[in-house]
Amino acid sequence: MSQSTKPRLTDLPEWKALAAHYEVMRGVHLRELFARDPQRAERFTLSAAGLTLDYSKNRVTAETMQRLTALARACGVETARAAMFAGEPINRTENRPALHVALRNRSNTPIYAQGHDVMPEVNRVLARMQAFAQAVRSGEWRGFTGKPIRAIINIGIGGSDLGPAMAYEALKAYARRNLTVRFVSNVDAAHIGEATRDLAPEETLFIVTSKTFTTQETMTNAQTARAWCLAALKDEKAVARHFVAVSTNEKEVARFGIDPQNMFEFWDWVGGRYSLCSAVGLALMVAIAPEHFLAMLDGFHAMDRHFAEAPLERNLPVILGLLGVWYNNFFGAATHAILPYAQYLCRFPAYLQQADMESLGKSVDQQGRKVGWQTGQIIWGEPGTNGQHAFFQLIHQGTRLIPADFIGFCRAATGRAGQPCPAVLSGRTGCAALPSEIPRREIANHHVKLMANFFAQTEALAFGRTTAEVAKQGVLPELVPHKVFEGNRPTNTILAEELTPGVLGALIALYEHKIFTQGVIWDIDAFDQWGVELGKELAGRIQGELTAKAEPDLRHDSSTNALIQRYRQAPRMGATS
Ligand code: F6P
Repeated sequence: MSQSTKPRLTDLPEWKALAAHYEVMRGVHLRELFARDPQRAERFTLSAAGLTLDYSKNRVTAETMQRLTALARACGVETARAAMFAGEPINRTENRPALHVALRNRSNTPIYAQGHDVMPEVNRVLARMQAFAQAVRSGEWRGFTGKPIRAIINIGIGGSDLGPAMAYEALKAYARRNLTVRFVSNVDAAHIGEATRDLAPEETLFIVTSKTFTTQETMTNAQTARAWCLAALKDEKAVARHFVAVSTNEKEVARFGIDPQNMFEFWDWVGGRYSLCSAVGLALMVAIAPEHFLAMLDGFHAMDRHFAEAPLERNLPVILGLLGVWYNNFFGAATHAILPYAQYLCRFPAYLQQADMESLGKSVDQQGRKVGWQTGQIIWGEPGTNGQHAFFQLIHQGTRLIPADFIGFCRAATGRAGQPCPAVLSGRTGCAALPSEIPRREIANHHVKLMANFFAQTEALAFGRTTAEVAKQGVLPELVPHKVFEGNRPTNTILAEELTPGVLGALIALYEHKIFTQGVIWDIDAFDQWGVELGKELAGRIQGELTAKAEPDLRHDSSTNALIQRYRQAPRMGATS
């Protein structure tokens, strides 16, 4: 269906049918749905690419799911999905394909962008990354004074930071422990200052990661890193041994002084927030070793194939996307919580914030018309069990509906890529641990408690506790309403055996394709991000006003003018007058 003939979302009969169905479903409790159907959990559980999704604790019936998939079909999700994998320019406002699936196309079948197969280029850069990672890890790559590299700092922001930073945390169990790996993004000097203060420049390697190589924060941090390095090494030639670049912009890389030989390229068809599998993942690859990076790509690819091939009814990303539409557009849920029960996934909610909110935070449709429906939700979250002692109260007993994804693992991460130490499973000791490591028996003990909380929370959220149940506990009558849990709070449970590189890849791809599905349904461009430009433009102008010697002619609103004046009048470090 061509864009011009595409009917508006809310005019579709499938949308109207869902609106009518919502009127029936809004009063139905999960207690009733589970009581009605003993097979409910089985009916609403699916597995793919090492992940199991139980979506039975959602306020849906088989009819709801059938109506939602009918909507997805009417919106052209299948055609759009095929267009993405075929390299069509689905990022319309930038006239580009969004081909991150090519970066992890482990089957190596040709994938075309603008008529040419991108796989040879993808494989060539991947091979260069591997050679570089091995050279750094083995000590073959030396710093300017001949010392091996002991610290890597990735300098980047947004998609050039969040992906590798999140995945490095997630896969720390696989990381080389005698290599310090840090990620600097904020233009606040505190970030680069704290990241470098205990490091030796002659043993530190900076990876400057920026698709455009013009991003203010990254360039400022990179210049500061260069000055820090040269202050110690006192020779411009040192830059070649201590700086490499990841970018699409060779000209700017060379202008910065990095030898293009030390540049790892990627392509304009890789969106920043979808770039972890490109050379943007270089710091991660050095940290965890190429074989684990490749295992992560395998996991991405397995989920890509599932998304491309499974019918919508049995397609994990599509189901997550549709449930999001159900709560966002029909129940009016403004936010969606991401709750990983894994400390290693502590940066996952922040990573998904960019992936989801930068993709779906749009208010015009593909033809530039104002949409007449809600688009992206607010994505937020923290790892469990910490969140339970902080914001869970509001999810359990607050007045708002907050759908949530619970992500958990059957066993603690071992750093052994799916070959668990038998002791972890049985709770016995047996595998050799480093003297400073927590005994494996203790890890198993922690994990069972973590997972008991994981399962308890989704049960409590779904089923709550009724007035009658509270009263039975002999509670003072005036306290009864305070102790009642309404329940009927929807959750998805995503369970995997262990947080391995492959499982992490599948998990990220699951959310990428969820976001894609929602972008198609809401008829928006999920691959551009024009909304970040205005702030950048104004900051450029204001920077001049903050530093001007003479009193600037401020032409902002009265609030911004007054704040700038206040800043100018305060004594500051580095002030020239
Ligand atoms: O400002 C937003 C953004 O363009 C993101 O989309 C991107 O991931 C980030 O900035 C960093 O951009 P670059 O990799 O070009 O430095």
